[in-house]
Amino acid sequence: MSEPHIRKVRPDELEEVWRVHVASSNDLLVRRGRPAARPTDAPVASDARAGLASDPDGYFCAVEEGQIRGMVSALVRGRVWYLSMFFVLPGDQGRSLGRALLERALAYGEARGAEIRCTWATLDPRAQARYVMAGMAPRWPIYRLDGDAAAVTRLKARAGLDPRERELPCDPGAAEKLTAEVFGHGRADDLAHWRSDGAAAVAIERGGELAAFAYRRGQRIGPAAGRDETALLQAVAAAAVAGAGGGGSVTMRVPGACASLLEALVSCGFRIGDPTLFMASRLFGRPELYLPSGPILY
Ligand SMILES: CC(C)(COP(=O)(O)OP(=O)(O)OC[C@H]1O[C@@H](n2cnc3c(N)ncnc32)[C@H](O)[C@@H]1OP(=O)(O)O)[C@@H](O)C(=O)NCCC(=O)NCCS
Repeated sequence: MSEPHIRKVRPDELEEVWRVHVASSNDLLVRRGRPAARPTDAPVASDARAGLASDPDGYFCAVEEGQIRGMVSALVRGRVWYLSMFFVLPGDQGRSLGRALLERALAYGEARGAEIRCTWATLDPRAQARYVMAGMAPRWPIYRLDGDAAAVTRLKARAGLDPRERELPCDPGAAEKLTAEVFGHGRADDLAHWRSDGAAAVAIERGGELAAFAYRRGQRIGPAAGRDETALLQAVAAAAVAGAGGGGSVTMRVPGACASLLEALVSCGFRIGDPTLFMASRLFGRPELYLPSGPILY
């Protein structure tokens, strides 16, 4: 058997690399007694394409006997290195392919001068072991929360808008500035990607200033950011109302750090799904004021 070879992913290999992601994450779900989430021929997520476009030097695959058997993707945003995706084919796990892939992804962060390492992790012990050994400690769970139309109606009532506050369409520049404040670094290119991917945005304005915003793609809410937890809740509620229009449901991933948002959602009847974990070498920004877009771009 030939030695595994780690190399960068070429744009024309994105489909094949995505198959590894889908096979590995479906296998993980089945091992945990859940149904496989995605059909094996699911199209490449637009966020994964954006990751390769923004960080082509942080996207690697492990090739053995001419087949891609593992993949890793890391993003650098300011001083933050974020591990976006990390998957090895089920039959090849536990053979150190992950170790070799992660070494390259970590070296990419070092070369870019990143100071903080973080990721959104599954509870897979092999993944946990690799992350802990790379200096990332578990910080808090991230819950998937799903709300039906009735839960969204309760959330809207709960969030209530003060007469001094108004719900408006969101100015991209103001969202960029607020994101930079709470995340610790601007995400202008990511925000532009989400808008080009069909995101609709709502803003909460207070005294002529942006107090919070939330992006929504179809039923999925995030990213969202606020100057305080009340404003964040209002923006998320406004986006949820727009997303559940016509009696549908909405979904989002809420870090445990967003304690008051989490409490409001669960109290209003949003249902908690499987937890994942936020892991980081150290804390940064204002994590209680940022609702991530999803696992791939955070
Ligand atoms: C996570 C993943 C990419 C790692 O790749 P891999 O090739 O299986 O990992 P490796 O063989 O390089 O490393 C696994 C490590 O976990 C350790 N390990 C395994 N089970 C363990 C446990 N219960 N406790 C502690 N360490 C454990 C192994 O000893 C090994 O460490 P070592 O190299 O120091 O001996 C792969 O297992 C995978 O695809 N898992 C399913 C999908 C997933 O959860 N991905 C993470 C997304 S956030």
